[in-house]
Amino acid sequence: MGSRRCSSAVVLAISVVALLNAAVALCGCSYKRIFAFGDSLVDTGNLLYSIGNSASPIKELPYGMTFFKHPNGRVTDGRVVVDFYAEALGLPLLPPSIPEEASGQFPNGANFAVAGAIALPPEYYKTNYNFTMNAPSNLDRQLASFKKVLARIAPGDGATRALLSESLVLMGEIGGNDYNFWFIDPRNPRETPEKYLPDVVTCIGATLQEVINLGARTIVVPGKFPIGCLPAYLSAHESKVTDDYDELHCLKWYNEFSQKHNLALRQEVVRLRSQNPGVKIVYADYYSAAMQFVQKPQAYGIADPLVACCGGNGPYHSGACNNKTKLWGSPDRFANWDGLHMTEKAYKIVADGVLDGPFADTPLRHLC
Ligand SMILES: *[C@@H]1O[C@H](CO)[C@@H](O)[C@H](O)[C@H]1NC(C)=O
Ligand SMILES: *[C@@H]1O[C@H](CO)[C@@H](O)[C@H](O)[C@H]1NC(C)=O
Repeated sequence: MGSRRCSSAVVLAISVVALLNAAVALCGCSYKRIFAFGDSLVDTGNLLYSIGNSASPIKELPYGMTFFKHPNGRVTDGRVVVDFYAEALGLPLLPPSIPEEASGQFPNGANFAVAGAIALPPEYYKTNYNFTMNAPSNLDRQLASFKKVLARIAPGDGATRALLSESLVLMGEIGGNDYNFWFIDPRNPRETPEKYLPDVVTCIGATLQEVINLGARTIVVPGKFPIGCLPAYLSAHESKVTDDYDELHCLKWYNEFSQKHNLALRQEVVRLRSQNPGVKIVYADYYSAAMQFVQKPQAYGIADPLVACCGGNGPYHSGACNNKTKLWGSPDRFANWDGLHMTEKAYKIVADGVLDGPFADTPLRHLC
């Protein structure tokens, strides 16, 4: 179906060269830098910077209330998963790339993720589905920015490879908005994203391959969260049909959709591993990590895992989270922050599950 702008055709040709040039794998789990790609689950300030003077709820408390004590561009109350990876690896928190794209040396890496980013380019959806994705970023754009920065801070193939060989790359979560923007309007037929799901995964895989071709040796690829348990989905797709819900009251169809994406992504990871011997590609199982909160909320001191901490009076506390809406309690009693994003507390538990297991096929701390 249609053209794949985020395509793997060119990439396959280059990967043969990459194999021949493959540097000796880095030993010892210490990284000098982290480079991250993704959306609002990863962004540490790019969207905030990019929107300039425009109004946005993320510019106001209660966003940022917990750790930083002020709004800082993260779309949650505190730190996001990549912040916990950085802390665990002894690195400072990752700066957003866009403010310093033309000048920063990024001695500890940079975060290219932009809240609201999609994986595929918006033209893909316009051409194939006559659908407008109002996304401020996508993987092609993040990759282009990444290459621009590399060309400046480590010019030349050898220097780029050397720098990336001692870096950890986090590829996502990304792709969630390719589905969110479609699903969030209940008038859109829910089957359509199943048609473009393979292209989303191919796009993520092609970007991964390009990053490997540039010299990356260790990459973490997170899957999707269970969207059928998100307050925003529970509210937008509320149903009178009991069978639409599983025994935990999550929406079955939407959780199965997340699993379809994750299965395809895992298969892509397996394929990329076989094409790139010596490169470590870790699949991070964010789906199972997040299901812990729904399956045993009391173990984490969470009162109700299916309602947002910040939001309106609707069921699941859905509705906008902003400086006029209500906080339904302390964020550390909630898994969900604003209907779509998790709380810092939840992100920390997800990060721990990837660092120490069991929610990564090789836990990050056991890689070397
Ligand atoms: C595309 O969508 C717009 C509305 O968003 C509609 O007016 C137009 O007719 C559609 N075009 C096609 C070719 O379906
Ligand atoms: C609340 O947010 C709006 C913009 O969304 C802003 O104009 C206003 O100053 C904020 N109010 C307070 C009390 O921070």
